[in-house]
Amino acid sequence: MVLISGAGGKTGRAVTRALALRGVAVRAWVRRGMAVDGAAELIVGDMNDSADWQRALSNCDKLYHICPNMHEDEIEIGRKAITAAKNAGISHFVYHSVLHPQTQAMPHHWNKLLVEEMLLMSGLPFTILQPTAYVQNIRAQWQTIVADGDFAMPYPVTTRISLVDLCDVAAVAALVLTQSGHTGATYELVGSEPLTQVDVAALIGRVIGRNVIAREVPLSDWERNARAAGLNEYAINTLLAMFRFYADYGLIGSATALSRLLDRKPTPITTVFTRWSA
Ligand SMILES: NC(=O)c1ccc[n+]([C@@H]2O[C@H](COP(=O)([O-])OP(=O)(O)OC[C@H]3O[C@@H](n4cnc5c(N)ncnc54)[C@H](OP(=O)(O)O)[C@@H]3O)[C@@H](O)[C@H]2O)c1
Repeated sequence: MVLISGAGGKTGRAVTRALALRGVAVRAWVRRGMAVDGAAELIVGDMNDSADWQRALSNCDKLYHICPNMHEDEIEIGRKAITAAKNAGISHFVYHSVLHPQTQAMPHHWNKLLVEEMLLMSGLPFTILQPTAYVQNIRAQWQTIVADGDFAMPYPVTTRISLVDLCDVAAVAALVLTQSGHTGATYELVGSEPLTQVDVAALIGRVIGRNVIAREVPLSDWERNARAAGLNEYAINTLLAMFRFYADYGLIGSATALSRLLDRKPTPITTVFTRWSA
């Protein structure tokens, strides 16, 4: 049995589906009693609670740990996951990290690096996956893009970001949990060349058959809207730090590791856009 923490989020659902396709029994850890497609078992608990970790891991032999996005307790949650995994005698701890965790200017990346370090020093058999930004992050504004041809982001339209299809990330998660030879490995998971936001707009436009314009939203406007939408202060400040980092340096990686792992080219981002248009 594989425990997937954070199973109710978009990453957890994709990883659960990918494991179910390979016939692997998954225990999906959710915060509320929501269903997760493909899960053999559901467990409800709080990742901040060590006793819940112990309960969640009982009778599991592997763990795929996904910390909730922009969580200020990411390091503490990582520590609890590692301690509970050691106590439970887990045979493989797979950590869902992020591309370029070594960037102190982005707190949610840096926190993941510190969890990676703890994992390295834990003595547990581990694999670390470092995905870049998902193509699926664009999904939230798809309707506006299609209706108005408006693709907005809180950093310059010239910012270059390498994207990845979350389904490819989930396929690798399933692969490292079911194949031998991945213990001790850290893999960067990148699907596309670094694309400017103007490039992304043009690719979307080609798929949906209309002109799409990339538009930079001032950070102050983004912040006001995020606060009005009820986003917490930690998430707002962390996202602002990420947008500033993106504006200065982008998020640039290589697709080589993902291609080798999948034994094929990563899914083109236009294929994901085509799926959404169907
Ligand atoms: N998005 C990207 O492009 C990207 C790229 C690379 C890495 N990542 C990393 O991927 C990870 C997952 O991101 P995501 O967007 O898939 O996650 P998410 O949507 O935030 O999902 C996390 C799940 O965890 C649950 N949760 C929140 N707090 C919890 C707690 N204290 N105890 C138990 N469960 C709790 C949430 O439940 P509720 O639904 O009840 O809130 C949610 O279902 C993050 O660490 C992120 O940094 C993301």
